[in-house]
Amino acid sequence: MRVTMIGTGYVGLVSGVCFSEFGFDVTCVDIDEAKIATLNELKSPIYEPGLDELIERNHTAGRLTFTTDFENAVAEADVVFVAVGTPSRRGDGEADLSYVFEAAKRIAHAMRPETVIVIKSTVVVGTCRKVHDIIAAERPGVAFSIASNPEFLREGSAIEDFMRPDRVIVGVEDERGEKALRHLYRPLYLRETPILITTLENAEITKYAANAFLAMKITFINEIADLCEKVGGDVQQIATGIGLDKRIGSKFLHAGPGYGGSCFPKDTNAFAATGRKSGAPQLLVETTIAVNEARKRAMADRILEALGPNPAGKTVGVLGIAFKPNTDDVRDAPSLVIVPRLVGAGVKVRAHDPEAREQAAPLLPGMEWCEQPYDVAKDADVIAVLTEWNVYRGLDLKRIGEAMAGKTIVDLRNIYRPQDVEDAGLGYVSVGKKG
Ligand code: UGA
Repeated sequence: MRVTMIGTGYVGLVSGVCFSEFGFDVTCVDIDEAKIATLNELKSPIYEPGLDELIERNHTAGRLTFTTDFENAVAEADVVFVAVGTPSRRGDGEADLSYVFEAAKRIAHAMRPETVIVIKSTVVVGTCRKVHDIIAAERPGVAFSIASNPEFLREGSAIEDFMRPDRVIVGVEDERGEKALRHLYRPLYLRETPILITTLENAEITKYAANAFLAMKITFINEIADLCEKVGGDVQQIATGIGLDKRIGSKFLHAGPGYGGSCFPKDTNAFAATGRKSGAPQLLVETTIAVNEARKRAMADRILEALGPNPAGKTVGVLGIAFKPNTDDVRDAPSLVIVPRLVGAGVKVRAHDPEAREQAAPLLPGMEWCEQPYDVAKDADVIAVLTEWNVYRGLDLKRIGEAMAGKTIVDLRNIYRPQDVEDAGLGYVSVGKKG
């Protein structure tokens, strides 16, 4: 079975590479020539652990190719996946589906009869039907099938998530689509991964509902953290306590500076917009969005407070800029709100991130970049941990303290043990703990 993947962003590239690792012939297509050139040098344009090795292995084996030649790649395929971006539209927060519809039109003209077209991009309910209508109008009388196969992988653990997902969701309109996707996911089925076959609409809504629920779960524990700080409590113990209830589950209960990334902010906004438009307002999701936005600002204020009454002219050393570890992605990262708020208050910011510098530098002017984590401590009045990279967990806190001008660590990811920070002679401000 020949697979063509349209779009080599996170989802498209990882899915394409992993399907080739399963033994299918895969062609990845992108209109971005520079990206395809990088891939043809067998380098990944994104930082994702393990991806370079899989690209090299499968390309060398002849199962994985990269091209800008959209028409030929589609004409050769039995199954065409659409994994192009669906960014937030400015103003109303709705998902911009123009890339999906554009791809659909081009696919219609290039495809062979009986091609299965699978929408992997995150799309609002009803989009797959529209794609069906677009293709049917462009190629009247030609048989084809539409399917929906949302992706649930996380950046930073994308390959593991694709290879060992909790479940696969497949929305179909006919048997041809179902047969093709069952075949493609057979390697997972043999590992006993549940494969849920459902309608196009159910698959579309499932993706948004999953992301909205997870964003809500994080926001819930963040509010519990606020409460713990006021009344005396330890959010980590409470997360453990509630997480052991199987109905709640322990994952996504780490309090922090608010969720960011390319998916939760965009998808919660799009889902809320769908709710408003369809007359079924998603009030929990609306509230989640507002609480999360306010939280990022509140976290900047927490750092400013730690600087004392006159923050202007003082220095903050920031550890971590990416929205989460193991990625160079800074889209909607809390750092993009926190750092400008500090700079706006006249604070000097020195920052380190193992991977995100290239992506973040243009977005965060007026900030000094450091080569090594220890460099951010030089003359810093406060150190603020914004991303829980492993490399920060084992830092020598005494050494940090000696280089600092002040003596406070604001740990927005709770990566240190309060006792260890105290033993190093430093003050400790964390999330969700009193005193
Ligand atoms: C998220 C979902 O987890 C994936 O299932 C989904 O496929 C993906 O979006 C998508 O729609 O494409 P991702 O954005 O890569 O994946 O990263 P997550 O690990 O979910 O983290 C998102 C944000 O939540 C990060 O800012 C992270 O720091 C924050 N977070 C996560 C917390 O603050 N606390 C937690 O307990 C977990």
